Amino acid sequence: ESFQQTWGTANQSTLYYTWYAQNALDRLNSTCTHTDLQSDPWWKLDLLKTYSVNRVTITNRPDCCEYRINGAEIRIGNNSSDVFSNPVCAEVSTIPAGATYSYSCRGMEGRYVTVNIPGTSKYITLCEVVVYVIFPGNLATGRTVTQSSTYGLWSAEQAIDFNPGFIQPSSSCSSTDIQTNPWWRVDLRYIYRVSRVVITNRLDCCPERINGAEIRIGNSLENNGNNNPICAVISSIPAGVSSTYTCNGMEGQYMNLFIPGDSKYLTLCEVEVYGEGVIKQADLVFWETINSFTIICLFQLQSALVERGFSDMTLQWSQPPEKDVTGKEARAQ
Ligand SMILES: *[C@@H]1O[C@H](CO)[C@@H](O)[C@H](O)[C@H]1NC(C)=O
Ligand SMILES: *[C@@H]1O[C@H](CO)[C@@H](O)[C@H](O)[C@H]1NC(C)=O
Ligand SMILES: *[C@@H]1O[C@H](CO)[C@@H](O)[C@H](O)[C@H]1NC(C)=O
Ligand SMILES: *[C@@H]1O[C@H](CO)[C@@H](O)[C@H](O)[C@H]1NC(C)=O
Repeated sequence: ESFQQTWGTANQSTLYYTWYAQNALDRLNSTCTHTDLQSDPWWKLDLLKTYSVNRVTITNRPDCCEYRINGAEIRIGNNSSDVFSNPVCAEVSTIPAGATYSYSCRGMEGRYVTVNIPGTSKYITLCEVVVYVIFPGNLATGRTVTQSSTYGLWSAEQAIDFNPGFIQPSSSCSSTDIQTNPWWRVDLRYIYRVSRVVITNRLDCCPERINGAEIRIGNSLENNGNNNPICAVISSIPAGVSSTYTCNGMEGQYMNLFIPGDSKYLTLCEVEVYGEGVIKQADLVFWETINSFTIICLFQLQSALVERGFSDMTLQWSQPPEKDVTGKEARAQ
Protein backbone atom coordinates (compact mmCIF):
# COMPACT_ATOMS: atom_id res chain seq x y z
CA GLU A 1 0.00 0.00 0.00
CA SER A 2 1.20 3.47 -0.77
CA PHE A 3 -0.15 6.84 0.36
CA GLN A 4 0.47 10.42 -0.62
CA GLN A 5 1.38 12.49 2.42
CA THR A 6 1.77 16.22 2.53
CA TRP A 7 5.55 15.74 2.40
CA GLY A 8 6.26 12.40 0.79
CA THR A 9 5.00 8.96 -0.16
CA ALA A 10 5.43 5.96 2.15
CA ASN A 11 5.41 2.29 1.23
CA GLN A 12 6.50 -0.95 2.86
CA SER A 13 7.44 -4.44 1.72
CA THR A 14 4.20 -6.07 2.95
CA LEU A 15 1.09 -4.92 4.80
CA TYR A 16 -0.22 -6.47 8.02
CA TYR A 17 -3.98 -5.81 8.27
CA THR A 18 -4.53 -2.03 8.39
CA TRP A 19 -1.11 -1.07 9.76
CA TYR A 20 -0.40 1.14 6.73
CA ALA A 21 2.98 2.57 5.79
CA GLN A 22 1.71 6.14 6.18
CA ASN A 23 0.87 5.52 9.85
CA ALA A 24 4.51 6.38 10.58
CA LEU A 25 3.95 9.89 9.20
CA ASP A 26 0.69 10.91 10.85
CA ARG A 27 2.20 12.47 13.99
CA LEU A 28 0.26 10.01 16.14
CA ASN A 29 2.24 7.65 18.38
CA SER A 30 -0.80 5.43 18.65
CA THR A 31 -1.05 4.38 14.98
CA CYS A 32 1.81 2.33 13.60
CA THR A 33 3.02 0.51 10.50
CA HIS A 34 3.45 -3.26 10.39
CA THR A 35 4.77 -5.68 7.80
CA ASP A 36 4.02 -9.37 7.65
CA LEU A 37 6.49 -11.83 9.13
CA GLN A 38 9.06 -12.07 6.33
CA SER A 39 12.73 -11.95 5.33
CA ASP A 40 14.37 -8.51 5.08
CA PRO A 41 11.25 -6.38 5.60
CA TRP A 42 11.50 -2.66 4.73
CA TRP A 43 9.62 0.61 5.05
CA LYS A 44 10.35 3.39 2.56
CA LEU A 45 9.68 7.11 2.41
CA ASP A 46 9.98 8.95 -0.91
CA LEU A 47 10.82 12.62 -0.20
CA LEU A 48 9.95 13.33 -3.88
CA LYS A 49 13.33 14.99 -4.48
CA THR A 50 16.84 14.75 -3.13
CA TYR A 51 17.49 16.31 0.27
CA SER A 52 20.40 16.49 2.62
CA VAL A 53 19.14 14.52 5.64
CA ASN A 54 20.46 15.70 8.98
CA ARG A 55 18.68 13.24 11.26
CA VAL A 56 15.84 10.76 11.50
CA THR A 57 13.78 10.04 14.59
CA ILE A 58 11.95 6.76 15.16
CA THR A 59 9.24 6.15 17.73
CA ASN A 60 8.91 2.50 18.77
CA ARG A 61 5.60 0.81 19.58
CA PRO A 62 4.43 1.25 23.16
CA ASP A 63 2.26 -1.84 23.57
CA CYS A 64 4.43 -4.93 23.05
CA CYS A 65 7.45 -6.59 21.46
CA GLU A 66 9.62 -3.51 21.35
CA TYR A 67 12.69 -5.77 20.73
CA ARG A 68 11.53 -6.34 17.13
CA ILE A 69 13.12 -3.02 16.12
CA ASN A 70 16.58 -4.22 17.24
CA GLY A 71 19.06 -4.31 14.36
CA ALA A 72 17.06 -2.07 12.04
CA GLU A 73 19.07 -0.09 9.50
CA ILE A 74 18.25 3.47 8.40
CA ARG A 75 19.37 4.13 4.83
CA ILE A 76 19.43 7.26 2.69
CA GLY A 77 19.86 7.12 -1.06
CA ASN A 78 18.43 7.36 -4.54
CA ASN A 79 17.67 3.76 -5.43
CA SER A 80 13.95 3.17 -5.22
CA SER A 81 13.85 -0.42 -6.45
CA ASP A 82 16.77 -1.85 -4.46
CA VAL A 83 16.67 -0.08 -1.09
CA PHE A 84 19.46 -2.33 0.23
CA SER A 85 21.90 -0.70 -2.19
CA ASN A 86 21.49 2.70 -0.47
CA PRO A 87 24.10 3.66 2.14
CA VAL A 88 23.37 3.06 5.82
CA CYS A 89 23.04 6.16 7.96
CA ALA A 90 22.59 4.40 11.31
CA GLU A 91 21.77 1.09 12.93
CA VAL A 92 19.22 0.81 15.69
CA SER A 93 20.48 -1.26 18.57
CA THR A 94 17.37 -0.93 20.70
CA ILE A 95 14.56 1.57 21.42
CA PRO A 96 12.49 1.22 24.62
CA ALA A 97 8.73 0.74 24.22
CA GLY A 98 7.06 4.00 23.19
CA ALA A 99 10.35 5.93 23.13
CA THR A 100 11.58 8.22 20.35
CA TYR A 101 15.27 7.97 19.42
CA SER A 102 17.16 10.30 17.10
CA TYR A 103 19.79 9.13 14.58
CA SER A 104 22.23 11.54 12.98
CA CYS A 105 22.72 11.22 9.22
CA ARG A 106 25.19 14.12 8.96
CA GLY A 107 23.71 15.54 5.77
CA MET A 108 23.61 12.33 3.72
CA GLU A 109 21.94 13.06 0.40
CA GLY A 110 19.12 11.09 -1.10
CA ARG A 111 15.50 10.96 -2.14
CA TYR A 112 14.55 7.81 -0.23
CA VAL A 113 14.70 7.19 3.51
CA THR A 114 14.27 3.54 4.38
CA VAL A 115 14.20 1.44 7.50
CA ASN A 116 14.90 -2.26 7.01
CA ILE A 117 15.61 -5.20 9.26
CA PRO A 118 18.05 -7.75 7.85
CA GLY A 119 17.33 -11.41 8.48
CA THR A 120 14.62 -14.05 8.30
CA SER A 121 11.32 -14.07 10.21
CA LYS A 122 11.25 -10.33 10.92
CA TYR A 123 8.55 -7.71 11.30
CA ILE A 124 8.97 -3.94 11.04
CA THR A 125 6.65 -1.79 13.12
CA LEU A 126 7.22 1.97 13.21
CA CYS A 127 4.91 4.24 15.15
CA GLU A 128 6.46 7.51 13.98
CA VAL A 129 9.29 8.48 11.66
CA VAL A 130 10.34 12.12 11.32
CA VAL A 131 12.96 13.17 8.77
CA TYR A 132 14.81 16.45 9.36
CA VAL A 133 16.50 17.88 6.28
CA ILE A 134 18.94 20.72 5.79
CA PHE A 135 17.14 23.17 3.56
CA PRO A 136 19.27 24.29 0.63
CA GLY A 137 17.78 27.77 0.47
CA ASN A 138 17.03 30.84 2.52
CA LEU A 139 14.21 30.04 4.97
CA ALA A 140 13.23 33.72 5.09
CA THR A 141 12.33 33.87 1.41
CA GLY A 142 8.67 34.59 0.79
CA ARG A 143 7.90 34.75 4.52
CA THR A 144 6.11 37.49 6.43
CA VAL A 145 8.35 40.29 7.64
CA THR A 146 7.71 43.36 9.74
CA GLN A 147 9.69 46.19 11.32
CA SER A 148 9.18 48.68 14.15
CA SER A 149 8.82 51.67 11.77
CA THR A 150 9.53 52.35 8.11
CA TYR A 151 11.75 55.07 6.71
CA GLY A 152 10.22 56.31 3.43
CA LEU A 153 9.86 53.46 0.95
CA TRP A 154 12.41 51.22 2.72
CA SER A 155 9.89 48.49 3.52
CA ALA A 156 10.66 45.42 5.63
CA GLU A 157 10.16 43.11 2.60
CA GLN A 158 13.13 44.65 0.80
CA ALA A 159 15.48 42.80 3.18
CA ILE A 160 14.39 39.46 1.67
CA ASP A 161 14.09 40.37 -2.02
CA PHE A 162 17.36 38.72 -3.16
CA ASN A 163 18.60 42.14 -4.18
CA PRO A 164 21.45 43.46 -2.00
CA GLY A 165 20.67 47.01 -3.06
CA PHE A 166 24.12 47.99 -4.20
CA ILE A 167 22.64 49.99 -7.07
CA GLN A 168 19.45 51.49 -5.61
CA PRO A 169 19.19 50.81 -1.86
CA SER A 170 15.91 52.71 -1.42
CA SER A 171 14.11 50.12 -3.53
CA SER A 172 15.97 47.05 -2.28
CA CYS A 173 16.97 47.52 1.39
CA SER A 174 14.74 47.81 4.46
CA SER A 175 15.10 50.56 7.04
CA THR A 176 13.35 51.74 10.14
CA ASP A 177 13.05 55.39 10.92
CA ILE A 178 15.42 56.86 13.49
CA GLN A 179 14.04 55.69 16.82
CA THR A 180 14.69 54.01 20.15
CA ASN A 181 15.18 50.19 20.00
CA PRO A 182 14.39 49.58 16.31
CA TRP A 183 13.72 45.97 15.21
CA TRP A 184 12.98 43.85 12.15
CA ARG A 185 11.38 40.40 12.28
CA VAL A 186 10.76 37.47 9.96
CA ASP A 187 8.12 34.85 10.73
CA LEU A 188 9.53 31.62 9.24
CA ARG A 189 6.03 30.09 9.53
CA TYR A 190 7.30 26.83 11.04
CA ILE A 191 9.79 26.05 13.76
CA TYR A 192 13.27 25.44 12.38
CA ARG A 193 16.66 24.75 13.90
CA VAL A 194 18.67 27.69 12.59
CA SER A 195 22.27 26.92 11.66
CA ARG A 196 23.28 30.37 10.42
CA VAL A 197 22.07 33.85 9.56
CA VAL A 198 23.67 35.98 6.85
CA ILE A 199 23.29 39.76 6.97
CA THR A 200 24.26 42.04 4.07
CA ASN A 201 25.07 45.60 5.07
CA ARG A 202 24.43 48.65 2.89
CA LEU A 203 27.12 49.72 0.46
CA ASP A 204 26.24 53.39 -0.04
CA CYS A 205 26.86 54.90 3.40
CA CYS A 206 26.94 54.63 7.17
CA PRO A 207 27.77 50.93 7.64
CA GLU A 208 28.33 51.56 11.37
CA ARG A 209 24.60 51.91 11.97
CA ILE A 210 24.33 48.10 12.11
CA ASN A 211 26.79 47.91 15.02
CA GLY A 212 25.31 46.36 18.13
CA ALA A 213 22.37 44.69 16.37
CA GLU A 214 21.28 41.51 18.12
CA ILE A 215 20.16 38.40 16.22
CA ARG A 216 17.40 36.79 18.27
CA ILE A 217 15.67 33.46 17.55
CA GLY A 218 12.75 31.81 19.30
CA ASN A 219 9.03 31.15 19.43
CA SER A 220 7.88 34.03 21.62
CA LEU A 221 6.30 37.25 20.38
CA GLU A 222 6.74 38.86 23.79
CA ASN A 223 8.19 42.36 23.29
CA ASN A 224 7.66 41.79 19.52
CA GLY A 225 10.04 38.81 19.62
CA ASN A 226 12.91 40.87 20.97
CA ASN A 227 13.06 38.86 24.21
CA ASN A 228 13.93 35.60 22.42
CA PRO A 229 17.42 34.16 23.02
CA ILE A 230 20.38 35.85 21.32
CA CYS A 231 22.30 33.97 18.64
CA ALA A 232 24.87 36.74 18.07
CA VAL A 233 25.52 40.44 18.50
CA ILE A 234 26.84 42.15 15.37
CA SER A 235 29.94 44.13 16.24
CA SER A 236 30.31 45.60 12.75
CA ILE A 237 29.91 44.69 9.06
CA PRO A 238 31.87 46.59 6.40
CA ALA A 239 29.85 48.38 3.69
CA GLY A 240 28.39 45.98 1.13
CA VAL A 241 29.63 42.88 2.93
CA SER A 242 27.58 39.78 3.83
CA SER A 243 28.53 38.44 7.26
CA THR A 244 27.58 35.00 8.54
CA TYR A 245 26.58 34.29 12.15
CA THR A 246 26.34 30.68 13.30
CA CYS A 247 23.42 29.82 15.56
CA ASN A 248 24.16 26.10 16.27
CA GLY A 249 20.64 24.85 15.72
CA MET A 250 18.77 27.39 17.86
CA GLU A 251 15.06 26.59 17.51
CA GLY A 252 12.47 29.09 16.53
CA GLN A 253 9.77 30.36 14.25
CA TYR A 254 10.82 34.01 14.61
CA MET A 255 14.14 35.66 13.84
CA ASN A 256 14.59 39.25 14.95
CA LEU A 257 17.23 41.88 14.48
CA PHE A 258 17.14 44.35 17.33
CA ILE A 259 19.31 47.38 18.09
CA PRO A 260 18.99 48.52 21.70
CA GLY A 261 19.48 52.23 22.29
CA ASP A 262 18.33 55.72 21.35
CA SER A 263 18.47 57.44 17.94
CA LYS A 264 19.11 54.26 15.95
CA TYR A 265 18.26 53.20 12.42
CA LEU A 266 18.06 49.51 11.51
CA THR A 267 18.86 49.14 7.81
CA LEU A 268 19.16 45.70 6.18
CA CYS A 269 20.05 45.06 2.57
CA GLU A 270 19.61 41.29 2.74
CA VAL A 271 18.78 38.79 5.46
CA GLU A 272 19.20 35.06 4.90
CA VAL A 273 18.33 32.31 7.36
CA TYR A 274 19.52 28.72 6.92
CA GLY A 275 18.68 25.65 8.91
CA GLU A 276 17.10 22.29 9.44
CA GLY A 277 13.46 21.28 9.62
CA VAL A 278 10.74 18.89 8.55
CA ILE A 279 9.73 19.01 4.87
CA LYS A 280 6.35 20.59 4.14
CA GLN A 281 4.36 20.57 0.94
CA ALA A 282 4.91 24.31 0.63
CA ASP A 283 8.67 23.77 0.49
CA LEU A 284 8.38 21.16 -2.25
CA VAL A 285 6.49 23.58 -4.44
CA PHE A 286 8.62 26.54 -3.43
CA TRP A 287 12.01 25.13 -4.40
CA GLU A 288 10.73 24.43 -7.90
CA THR A 289 10.56 28.16 -8.69
CA ILE A 290 14.24 28.27 -9.71
CA ASN A 291 14.72 28.90 -13.42
CA SER A 292 17.59 29.65 -15.74
CA PHE A 293 16.21 33.07 -16.77
CA THR A 294 16.90 34.43 -13.29
CA ILE A 295 20.44 33.07 -13.27
CA ILE A 296 21.22 34.83 -16.56
CA CYS A 297 19.95 38.10 -15.05
CA LEU A 298 22.24 37.64 -12.03
CA PHE A 299 25.28 37.31 -14.25
CA GLN A 300 24.21 40.50 -16.05
CA LEU A 301 23.95 42.24 -12.67
CA GLN A 302 27.41 41.07 -11.70
CA SER A 303 28.89 42.39 -14.98
CA ALA A 304 27.19 45.73 -14.42
CA LEU A 305 28.71 45.98 -10.94
CA VAL A 306 32.17 45.13 -12.21
CA GLU A 307 31.82 47.88 -14.82
CA ARG A 308 31.09 50.31 -11.99
CA GLY A 309 34.33 49.41 -10.25
CA PHE A 310 33.25 46.75 -7.76
CA SER A 311 35.85 44.38 -9.10
CA ASP A 312 36.65 42.41 -5.95
CA MET A 313 33.04 41.46 -5.27
CA THR A 314 31.51 37.99 -5.40
CA LEU A 315 27.75 37.66 -5.67
CA GLN A 316 26.53 34.59 -3.85
CA TRP A 317 22.95 33.48 -4.10
CA SER A 318 21.46 30.77 -1.98
CA GLN A 319 18.62 30.70 -4.47
CA PRO A 320 17.94 32.84 -7.52
CA PRO A 321 15.31 35.55 -7.16
CA GLU A 322 11.81 35.46 -8.50
CA LYS A 323 11.20 36.78 -11.98
CA ASP A 324 9.77 40.19 -11.12
CA VAL A 325 12.70 41.03 -8.85
CA THR A 326 15.30 40.19 -11.46
CA GLY A 327 13.33 42.24 -13.95
CA LYS A 328 13.82 45.23 -11.67
CA GLU A 329 17.54 44.54 -11.43
CA ALA A 330 17.87 44.16 -15.16
CA ARG A 331 16.22 47.57 -15.70
CA ALA A 332 18.53 49.13 -13.11
CA GLN A 333 21.40 48.49 -15.50
C1 LIG B 1 4.76 -0.71 -2.66
O1 LIG B 1 5.63 -1.80 -2.42
C2 LIG B 1 5.12 -3.03 -2.90
C3 LIG B 1 6.04 -4.15 -2.43
O2 LIG B 1 7.32 -3.99 -3.01
C4 LIG B 1 4.99 -2.97 -4.41
O3 LIG B 1 4.45 -4.17 -4.91
C5 LIG B 1 4.09 -1.80 -4.79
O4 LIG B 1 4.07 -1.66 -6.19
C6 LIG B 1 4.61 -0.53 -4.16
N1 LIG B 1 3.65 0.54 -4.41
C7 LIG B 1 4.04 1.67 -4.99
C8 LIG B 1 2.96 2.65 -5.26
O5 LIG B 1 5.19 1.91 -5.29
C1 LIG C 1 21.57 11.01 -4.70
O1 LIG C 1 21.52 11.94 -5.77
C2 LIG C 1 22.07 13.20 -5.45
C3 LIG C 1 21.82 14.12 -6.63
O2 LIG C 1 22.12 13.51 -7.82
C4 LIG C 1 23.56 13.02 -5.14
O3 LIG C 1 24.12 14.27 -4.82
C5 LIG C 1 23.71 12.08 -3.96
O4 LIG C 1 25.07 11.85 -3.68
C6 LIG C 1 23.01 10.76 -4.25
N1 LIG C 1 23.03 9.94 -3.05
C7 LIG C 1 23.62 8.77 -2.99
C8 LIG C 1 23.58 8.07 -1.68
O5 LIG C 1 24.19 8.26 -3.94
C1 LIG D 1 19.27 0.19 -8.11
O1 LIG D 1 19.92 -1.00 -7.72
C2 LIG D 1 19.75 -2.05 -8.67
C3 LIG D 1 20.32 -3.31 -8.07
O2 LIG D 1 21.49 -3.08 -7.35
C4 LIG D 1 20.48 -1.64 -9.96
O3 LIG D 1 20.34 -2.64 -10.93
C5 LIG D 1 19.86 -0.34 -10.44
O4 LIG D 1 20.57 0.12 -11.59
C6 LIG D 1 19.90 0.73 -9.36
N1 LIG D 1 19.14 1.89 -9.82
C7 LIG D 1 19.61 3.10 -9.72
C8 LIG D 1 18.71 4.21 -10.21
O5 LIG D 1 20.72 3.34 -9.27
C1 LIG E 1 4.94 10.64 21.19
O1 LIG E 1 6.04 10.17 21.94
C2 LIG E 1 7.01 11.14 22.22
C3 LIG E 1 8.17 10.46 22.88
O2 LIG E 1 7.74 9.67 23.96
C4 LIG E 1 6.42 12.24 23.07
O3 LIG E 1 7.37 13.24 23.31
C5 LIG E 1 5.25 12.85 22.32
O4 LIG E 1 4.63 13.80 23.13
C6 LIG E 1 4.26 11.77 21.93
N1 LIG E 1 3.24 12.36 21.08
C7 LIG E 1 1.95 12.13 21.24
C8 LIG E 1 1.04 12.80 20.28
O5 LIG E 1 1.53 11.39 22.11
